[in-house]
Amino acid sequence: MGFRVAVVTDIHHGIRPAGERGGNALSALKHFVDWVGKEKPDLVLELGDRIADVDSETDKRLQREVAEMLSRLDAPVQSINGNHDRDNLSIRENEQILGYAMGHEVLDAGDWRIILWRADTQMARGWGLSLPKEDLEWLKSALLSSDKPTLLASHVPPFAQDMTTNHYFEANAEIANYRGCEEISSALISSTCPLVTVSGHVHWTTAHQRGGVWHLTQQALTEIYPTGAPAMAWGMLDLGADVSWDVHGVDPMSLRFTPSAKRWARPLPRFSDMPATA
Ligand SMILES: [Fe+2]
Repeated sequence: MGFRVAVVTDIHHGIRPAGERGGNALSALKHFVDWVGKEKPDLVLELGDRIADVDSETDKRLQREVAEMLSRLDAPVQSINGNHDRDNLSIRENEQILGYAMGHEVLDAGDWRIILWRADTQMARGWGLSLPKEDLEWLKSALLSSDKPTLLASHVPPFAQDMTTNHYFEANAEIANYRGCEEISSALISSTCPLVTVSGHVHWTTAHQRGGVWHLTQQALTEIYPTGAPAMAWGMLDLGADVSWDVHGVDPMSLRFTPSAKRWARPLPRFSDMPATA
């Protein structure tokens, strides 16, 4: 057994007129807390969008209710802010509610390290998600500072994926990831460590391997698509020579792979632009 990380994301506590998924969030989170009590992971990662935002005062109350439930976890916990945590609240206000600083961090995880990439997630209407330059620069230098196998955790996926059929993002693909996310991708590919990323935001469970880097996105805890019932999705990542990832809930999935520092060769140009061979 390696270093075990329990993952929960997109809790979305609150009440929305349609779907009502957020109305079930605290009871779903309580089930996760109970599961963590039995599984005893080394760490819990909560990847953001703790609430369904309303206004500043309501959001503070919702955040406090989630924080109270997270405080019952029988394991160290680290949270990352999602865009809904930032719609009406500052980073500082989230820090005050959760009780710890929410800057970028590198955690020791035995044979692994975990990068908590807390790039800002505030979304400007019509502008999508802008990545502050300093967040990108911090990531570049953190990635290159060690060859240790690395788990990179963030709210917004650090790569572009096809959003076809995604309920939220098919028509809004520009807010599924940061504008200019190609720069993030090239920083990831340039790293010299076995690298796995895990994120939320897109509300569905996916795994992609891109040029030798593994990208995992986990379903929202309370997502009601595609089954119609809250997904009750949470995951366990077991970080060793191999990585296993088990996502629980009504829409489960299991995956095992061996991360490597090897990268694919650079993509070829268009074949039609290449010199003809004899
Ligand atoms: Fe979300």
